[in-house]
Amino acid sequence: MATRSASLAPLRRLARQELHKTAPLLAGALVLMVLTSATTGAIAWLLKPIVEGVLAPDRVTNLGLIAAVVGAVFVARGVATYGYTVLLQDSGRRVVASLQKRMMAATLANDLAKVQAVPSGRLAARFIADAETVFGLASNLLINLGRDLTTLAFLLTVMLIRDPAMTLLALLMGPIVVLPIARLGRIMRTSTRARQAAIGALNDRLVQALQGVRHIKVNTAEDRVAAATAEQIDRAAALRLRQGRLEGATVPIMEVLSGGVIALVVLWGGQQLLDGSRSAADLASFLGAVLLAADPLRRLGRINVTLQQALAGLDRVHEVIDDRPAIRSAAAPRPLGPVRGEIRFEGVGFHYGDGPGGSDAGAPAAALDGIELTVAPGETVALVGPSGAGKSTLIALVPRFYDPTEGTVRLDGTDLRDLDLADLRRHIALVSQDVTLFDQSIAANIAFSRPQASPAEIAAAAAAAGAHDFITALPRGYDTLVGERGVRLSGGQRQRLSIAQAMLKDAPVLLLDEATSALDTDSERLVQAGLERLRAGRTTLVIAHRLSTIVGADRIAVLDRGRLAEHGTHAELHAQGGLYARLWTLQTQAHGTGSPDGRR
Ligand SMILES: Nc1ncnc2c1ncn2[C@@H]1O[C@H](COP(=O)(O)OP(=O)(O)OP(=O)(O)O)[C@@H](O)[C@H]1O
Ligand SMILES: [Mg+2]
Repeated sequence: MATRSASLAPLRRLARQELHKTAPLLAGALVLMVLTSATTGAIAWLLKPIVEGVLAPDRVTNLGLIAAVVGAVFVARGVATYGYTVLLQDSGRRVVASLQKRMMAATLANDLAKVQAVPSGRLAARFIADAETVFGLASNLLINLGRDLTTLAFLLTVMLIRDPAMTLLALLMGPIVVLPIARLGRIMRTSTRARQAAIGALNDRLVQALQGVRHIKVNTAEDRVAAATAEQIDRAAALRLRQGRLEGATVPIMEVLSGGVIALVVLWGGQQLLDGSRSAADLASFLGAVLLAADPLRRLGRINVTLQQALAGLDRVHEVIDDRPAIRSAAAPRPLGPVRGEIRFEGVGFHYGDGPGGSDAGAPAAALDGIELTVAPGETVALVGPSGAGKSTLIALVPRFYDPTEGTVRLDGTDLRDLDLADLRRHIALVSQDVTLFDQSIAANIAFSRPQASPAEIAAAAAAAGAHDFITALPRGYDTLVGERGVRLSGGQRQRLSIAQAMLKDAPVLLLDEATSALDTDSERLVQAGLERLRAGRTTLVIAHRLSTIVGADRIAVLDRGRLAEHGTHAELHAQGGLYARLWTLQTQAHGTGSPDGRR
């Protein structure tokens, strides 16, 4: 209706990218809609013969026929209505599903930093709530457009045939309602955005609260968290109510139109009836058409409001789909031959952008600064240093979770940015402190790093990781489900599964973020033994917390506030008496098996 054409762009894009795929369904629905509309016109049309039949008893023979026709018209209407409703729902579901799939693909393909910057609950809300508003397009908008517009066309035709002059006069009342309806639509669009954002924030809090139940309980924060959530629930409800009011406001506006037209017909038509210049049957048919037009008109009044709602949702859906990762494969990637596994950091500097986790004032401090470090093929380099020194950041540059802001990271001499991203990541295994296991069987979890692995290969990897024995002791062995629906594993068991994953991947480059939480001695020994076997023959960068790892490493790189403070073997650094020696002394004195990284 009265909308600026520019703001309809998302709709045109939807038609181009999605709706055309369901074109046969939509075409079928349209045919059935026109049929439904025609039946409504027919009912108004039939009012004349009905009234004539009743008023002229000599033609009573026709009544049976008319009754049969009216009955048939209603049956046809019912069947056609059912048909287009189903077809439109089907089309709408397909469009929504397709959008959701594209959102999922785009989100997973996006940069780690961007995905992690959005709380997961908020992202989930976009998937569900925003995509759903688009469904309103099909169920509401298309019905309004297809059925109600054609119905009005048919009814208008009946009216024009019955009385052209009065019809034109009635049409003059239309413009009165256009302005307020257009205004409502604009308010609706902003209000929908606000509501969807509120739903996202609420979702977020729910997810966080549920994930942190343990944390909430131990701090007896149940009431506090519930109260904070209540605020957001109220806010979302208030915004929903506001939308309900906006939607409702179209009804009185359209009633003014219908009422005005009916009053006009009664006044003018009634006068003509009294004059004798018009037949009662004619007037009945005309008035019937006007009354039948009231419902579609009322719905059409709401069309702009529905449209704006759907457009707001569509905007947000498109934002997700359009967000392209900054970290991509090179346009013409250099092929990686057999990888030797030399990793070289050349003058690498990095600072995190000022996202939600960024700095509070001014430019963020550099997380890494002027790092020069070469890890030879097969060598193990242990990264140590105080908390916040940049160890995790340095490791994250290797699989290109981030790109350095200065300098270059090279694999076998090639700038990582000149490689194909998937090719690069195929050659890297990452074992981190927080092990991610998906809700599937243990075998499937191990094979996540190489889905085509055979059961024998999986078992071999598990055995090398020291996980085979505990797995076979489980009632269903490798088929045991882990996570939500299956058994819960201990920290040490999870770590061994993640080592098995890396074993199976068999990548030449290994990135290790050792667990800081102390495992019991037995479990620790098993994990250590697994890691030893995993490291053998691979270029390994390990964030080391265990003395055994540090002493066992070929070289140690000590990071301090983003800079490479010192590096060398344990003996060399110990003799130097610098930061490493200080950390070492501190830790070995505090605990026999402490970690020289500044933690307690
Ligand atoms: N996602 C992020 N966004 C912004 N700043 C970050 C982010 N991650 C880390 N930082 C900052 O970068 C610096 C280096 O962090 P990093 O995680 O690399 O330290 P670390 O040496 O691994 O510390 P720890 O031993 O505690 O794990 C810190 O000052 C930290 O605050
Ligand atoms: Mg870290």
